[in-house]
Formats: sequence, structure tokens, C-alpha cells
Amino acid sequence: MKLNLLGLAEFIDYEQFAVTAVEKNKMLHQGSGAGNDFLGWVDLPQRAKEELPHIIEVSKRFRKNLDCIVVIGIGGSYLGTKAVLTALRSQIPMTTEDPEILFAGHHLSQEYHTQLFSYLKSKNWGIVIISKSGTTTEPAIAFRFLRTSLIQQFGLEESRQRILAITDAKRGALRSLVNTEGYESFVIPDDVGGRFSILTPVGLVPLALAGIDIGALVQGAYNQMENSNADTPFKQNLSAQYAAARYALYKEGKGIEILSNFNPALHDVAEWWKQLFGESEGKDQKGIFPASVDLTTDLHSMGQFIQDGTRQLFETAILIEKSESDLILKEQDSDLDQLNYLSGKSMDYVNKQAAEGTLLAHKDGEVPIIRIEIEKLSAFTLGEIFYFFEKACGISGYLLEVNPFDQPGVEAYKKNMFALLGKPGFEEETKTIKSRLS
Ligand code: PA5
Repeated sequence: MKLNLLGLAEFIDYEQFAVTAVEKNKMLHQGSGAGNDFLGWVDLPQRAKEELPHIIEVSKRFRKNLDCIVVIGIGGSYLGTKAVLTALRSQIPMTTEDPEILFAGHHLSQEYHTQLFSYLKSKNWGIVIISKSGTTTEPAIAFRFLRTSLIQQFGLEESRQRILAITDAKRGALRSLVNTEGYESFVIPDDVGGRFSILTPVGLVPLALAGIDIGALVQGAYNQMENSNADTPFKQNLSAQYAAARYALYKEGKGIEILSNFNPALHDVAEWWKQLFGESEGKDQKGIFPASVDLTTDLHSMGQFIQDGTRQLFETAILIEKSESDLILKEQDSDLDQLNYLSGKSMDYVNKQAAEGTLLAHKDGEVPIIRIEIEKLSAFTLGEIFYFFEKACGISGYLLEVNPFDQPGVEAYKKNMFALLGKPGFEEETKTIKSRLS
């Protein structure tokens, strides 16, 4: 992958933060900054390599004969898997041996889950439940329903072979259930937070079940780890450069970053990225708000604002150089749609001109542009991208002087929800919230 910051020259001098960004990168390696008990992701690609044979062996066994697997999880226990599957399954169709992967417990929609349960009735299916805490409401509710359905459909004994759990080594309700029921399980390391967990069993197990080349994913991340180690100079450290550029833009009042793509296969990479940066940076009234657009689609909805609205935006575009297929426009006798001037050109060629034209227009509209260029979309390049962003996020959090590895703000909605639901232990909050709502 390449990081192209040439489009920033007329807006900011990001190199003024080069020394500091390299120092912050060192802090991540030395464990000398805030949240240093959650730095297990820094050398995770190395540890993941060692875990691969076991994950692949268990996954092969578990998915055998299943035509559908429901992956239950939310936030960091869901977004990485979804990102890879959206990216790769849209262009590399699954083989007949690959099970269909469906998601549950990533929201509380009754309609969605009702339809899912009904769809599963005619399927030969299993469950992967992922929750580090083992107590998150959304996945816990989905698991309760799905486990009951599985037992009804296949019986208690058989259902035990169809459930795989990924959770904390010792703590939480899910670990207790694993111990009682004897489910196959994997451990989420203590020192890796949810949004940094794609290279732990959280991401690797469901992706292996889906038939994704997790070895290539880990290798991509590994290469990026090697390219941004404690001693890598700024000029070679893409994560440090991206973090410095974002920080320089933030200091100039650019408080919103839009991650754009010109291929909807990257839609969920942006969703993963939004959690990574949003939960890591957005605290103490600081941080860049992470937003995303799929282009050219959203040019027809968000294009006006990006071009001409409040000037507090900058854009990071992920651009894919090579397309896996070719759709060539052919000349037609009647040129009623006036497209004959494009005959012989591919749809991807048109998309690339649209991309260049769009980014130039945005720059003219005073939107600074960062370009992340990847040769093609693959498990390997996704691995590079994930580690690149994770490292940049850690550096960025330290530049902002926040703890990038906690998420105290996430608890606020949970407290109110538990109070409204009348959860035992929340009696005081229930009284207060009811009086506030009436
Ligand atoms: O980043 C985080 O820690 C959160 O978004 C969690 O990933 C999310 O809440 C899911 O938590 P758990 O895996 O404990 O169910």
C-alpha cells in the first residue's frame, strides 16, 4: 500500500509533527503511554501467525457439513469480520464448500431477527458467539434466542457441537456457559480491546470459517507491523505520517474526516475504521469525527455538502488500482445515450476518471485530500490496511493526549437502558430516569 500526502501541501505542513509522531510510535512499543495495558495489538501479527494452524484446524472441523453459520457479536466483536467479508465476497464469490455467513446481535431489531430465525429453520446451521465481556446486551439476547432454536432443531447434545464461543479466558457469563456446556472455544487476549481485535480469534475464526485466506490477512498486517516498528524513520512510517497529517489538519480546524471509496466493497472497512477512530479519539471533548461515503453513489446525496458546505472537512480516499474483472463498453449504431465516445473503455476506467475528477473538485473546494492507494483488494492488502490504521490510531490518540484504548462514553447509554429495563442493581437510576422522561 502507498500513502500519498501530496494533496496536503497547500493546506498544512504535517512534517512539523514528524518528530512527535515518531516519539508517540515509540511510546506504543515501550508501553509508556496511557492505556498501556491494552497494547497487545502492537505485535499481534506475530502472535497471530503462531495461532493460525490451530484456528484453521478447528474451523475446518466446525464448518464441515454446515451450510450456514450465524456470527453473533457487536462493535469490535463484529465489524472486522463484516469488513473483510463485504470486501472479499463481493469480488471473490464463495465456493460451494463455503458456508453462508449471517450476522446477529449487532443491533436489536426484532424484525431482522424474526426473519433470520425463520430463514434458519430450513438450514443446516451453527453459531459463533463472540463477546469479550460476555455480558453485552445485544449479542446476549440474540444468543439466547438462537441457542434455543438450535436446541429445538437439533437436540441438546447435537447443538453443543454446533456452537463455538470466542470470549475472555476466565471472566464473564459466556465463559461460564462454555465451561458448563463444553462448547469449543477460543480466548480473546486480555490486552487487546474490541476495536483492535480483528487479528485475534474474534476476526480470524469467523473468517476462516467463511473460507477467507487468514494467512494472507495476517501476513499483510505483519508486513505493515515491520514497516512501522519503534525505529522506523518518519519517511518510511506510513502510520506516523497519516497520524501527523490528521493532527496537523485537526489543528487547522478540520474536525471531520471522511473516508471515501470508489468501490462499495470497502463500505464496511469504513464502518470498522469509524469505530476504531471514533471510540479511540472521541473523548475529553477532543477528536476528529470519522465519517464515510461510498462514491460515486454518495456524490448524488452528500456531494453537494462535501464540495460546498461548512469547510471543516478533509477526505481520506482509499483507491484500488486493479480491478478483478473487465466490463468493456461497446459501440452501438444508434448513440441515443451518447456513450459511443467511451466505446472500448471499461467501467473501471470510467470509475477511475470519476475518482480523479471528484478528488480534484474536492481539493478545489478546499477539502484537503489524503490518498491511500492499494494495488488490489485481497486478504493481504486488507491486513496491511487494518494494521496501518490501528497503528496510526494509537499514535493519533497520543498526539491528541487522550487514552486511545478506553471507551468510558459507551457506558452512558447502557446505564440508561438498564435503568429503563429495570435491571437489578439499577434501582436508583430507574427512579431518576423515569422522572426525567415524564
Ligand atoms: O471497542 C469496544 O470495546 C466495544 O465496541 C466492544 O467491542 C463491543 O461493545 C462488544 O463488546 P463485547 O465483545 O464485550 O461483547
